[in-house]
Amino acid sequence: MARLEDKVAVITGAASGIGLAAARLFAAEGAKVVGTDLQFVDDDTWRDHCGGDALFLRHDVTDEDRWASVIGEAERHGGRIDILLNCAGINGVSGEEAPPQEPDVIGLDIWRRVNRVNAEGTLLGCRAVIPVMREHGGAIVNISSIAAQKGWPMRTAYGASKAAVLQYTRSVARYCAESGWKIRCNAVLPGPIDTPMIKPPGRKPLAGGDGQAGANHVPIKRYGEPLEVARPMLFLASDEASYITGAGLNVDGGIAALTAD
Ligand SMILES: NC(=O)c1ccc[n+]([C@@H]2O[C@H](COP(=O)([O-])OP(=O)(O)OC[C@H]3O[C@@H](n4cnc5c(N)ncnc54)[C@H](O)[C@@H]3O)[C@@H](O)[C@H]2O)c1
Repeated sequence: MARLEDKVAVITGAASGIGLAAARLFAAEGAKVVGTDLQFVDDDTWRDHCGGDALFLRHDVTDEDRWASVIGEAERHGGRIDILLNCAGINGVSGEEAPPQEPDVIGLDIWRRVNRVNAEGTLLGCRAVIPVMREHGGAIVNISSIAAQKGWPMRTAYGASKAAVLQYTRSVARYCAESGWKIRCNAVLPGPIDTPMIKPPGRKPLAGGDGQAGANHVPIKRYGEPLEVARPMLFLASDEASYITGAGLNVDGGIAALTAD
């Protein structure tokens, strides 16, 4: 039996990278997938990715009002919502005109933009789905980052936003468990994953050089693939993780082990 048989999953940031890999994997495991993203994906392409009963919605995760309609449309489409993956995110350093994030020069604009998408987007998603999941239970998986756990001078806004995601994940987990709702909430903390975020098309990898220089800092000596994050997300979203809530799972080729105390 497929691991997500009869489940309905809403996945943000589903047009690219980790979110897209998760959408395809979850569909292959039997889930009805409602993908959302700022980037548009047409119906045919989306059904190619995720099967005939998949739905794609244009959605900016920072748009508070739009969250209510996305959750409503997903619920009408699937009959329920069992899983939410908050994958949408930006690092604020991939764009052509990326403002600096070093602590002494960072502007409030980039700080707010990165925190809005990553931290507030995750908050709005959890807040919107909890009332829908309360009755029958559910699983939320958020994407934090190894940047939540260490100083990241060039990406101060990004690190702070991902630390907020991790801390908020723990609060949601406790709140739901202590309220007697069968809603679990966990986070994954990826290391460098080979997606457009760190390898913007037509530009050098953000980690430097041909990418190997960055990869050499990883004990496993390579970047991860999006599917290598999607698989742990599948585990956390599935009933196999029924006793796991409030966890932050490192998916980083061993980076956290370099500094673990
Ligand atoms: N790639 C990495 O090395 C890495 C490492 C740690 C954490 N992460 C996190 O993983 C998540 C997925 O990133 P990815 O690497 O797959 O990058 P990606 O750029 O391939 O995918 C991110 C997706 O989020 C969407 N998005 C951005 N802003 C949005 C908004 N306001 N509303 C809706 N959608 C929006 C983008 O359109 C894109 O499709 C992000 O939260 C990222 O911070 C990535």
